[in-house]
Amino acid sequence: MLKVGLIGSGNIARKRHAPGWQKLAGQAIVTAVSDVVEAAATEAAGLFATDGAAPTIYTDYHQLIREAEIDAVDICLPHHLHADAILAATAAGKHILCEKPMCIAIEEADRIVEAVDRAGIVYMSGHNELFYPAVAGAKELLDRGALGTPFILRSHEFPTGYPASAVPGRPAEGTMMVGWRANRATMGGGVLIDKGYHPTYILLHLAGAEPVEVTAMGGTYVAQMDGEDTALVMVKFANGAIGQIFTGEGFAFPANDAKFHAIGERGEVYGNRYDLYEKPRGFAEPSRRSYPVEPVGNQQTFDATIHHFYDSIATGRRPIQDHRDGRRVLQVILAAYRSIEEGKTITL
Ligand SMILES: NC(=O)c1ccc[n+]([C@@H]2O[C@H](COP(=O)([O-])OP(=O)(O)OC[C@H]3O[C@@H](n4cnc5c(N)ncnc54)[C@H](O)[C@@H]3O)[C@@H](O)[C@H]2O)c1
Repeated sequence: MLKVGLIGSGNIARKRHAPGWQKLAGQAIVTAVSDVVEAAATEAAGLFATDGAAPTIYTDYHQLIREAEIDAVDICLPHHLHADAILAATAAGKHILCEKPMCIAIEEADRIVEAVDRAGIVYMSGHNELFYPAVAGAKELLDRGALGTPFILRSHEFPTGYPASAVPGRPAEGTMMVGWRANRATMGGGVLIDKGYHPTYILLHLAGAEPVEVTAMGGTYVAQMDGEDTALVMVKFANGAIGQIFTGEGFAFPANDAKFHAIGERGEVYGNRYDLYEKPRGFAEPSRRSYPVEPVGNQQTFDATIHHFYDSIATGRRPIQDHRDGRRVLQVILAAYRSIEEGKTITL
């Protein structure tokens, strides 16, 4: 039985991670939870309470890591605390599943890579959208080589859940970019390192090549936050392929129709979350594969992430995305920030 400590008991921990762990009952158990806000930790602990047994509550995650009887931690903290929690858990020999981003500075990422390698623990980057069936299907097609090496790629993510706005072209008030997300010091940037993190790891995953150059533009147009609320990023890969990432709060309507697109020498593949289109070169129409739509938002991607983390520990197999993948995604995002600031292409 894998014993798990939940670090950070906010929105994503309670709404998405908790149901994922609950589905692993019998194989894994959350024995400790923590949040600096005790009420949040208590609420999270209530989700795991079984007859007579509930997880121990900690308001200090360092104490949880030191004292709780756990094999692994699941980190769901604001971004600026990720590196501290990861390094503490690594030093204590705990396996780690961490929400995106791995951390917010490349020096932190380097320390994490070195520490995780030395400790020999399993580190999994919580890149949950790779488990959307259409994204996983596209990767499988590309890996099989049926379409050749992709040379043009695109990936994007925009808001999905805003209520209708009173002002056309402006998001309604429901933007999530409030609290620690609106503060550059705790967010590590703006929308690109949060919502835009997903299309970034999807693009790199589908490209299957090393990113070598980044050129970006961005700005703050509609949300009240320190960082950018909209970003457009171009990536050049070592094999000559080029890719584009587009993200932001600036789109006031659900614009996630074609979430990703990859074009190779022998054809192309594109889709969103549950629909995958494949069009070999020379064909007039694509074939379409539709997967069952998850009734609870994107819950299945979190269930799959947590299950995959468990399997990686149980089997010793490398997780789909580890600490090096976390570093690579961050490196592209930080290069994009430098490119926006300096108005030039950044070589990685
Ligand atoms: N994969 C996804 O689709 C997805 C979606 C949303 C959030 N996330 C990620 O999950 C993480 C958390 O985001 P959220 O939306 O749940 O934020 P949140 O603000 O709802 O939750 C963060 C929690 O951390 C707690 N916290 C703050 N400082 C702390 C400290 N020093 N010690 C212990 N707890 C502390 C807060 O009290 C809060 O309960 C972020 O990394 C975010 O990017 C991922």
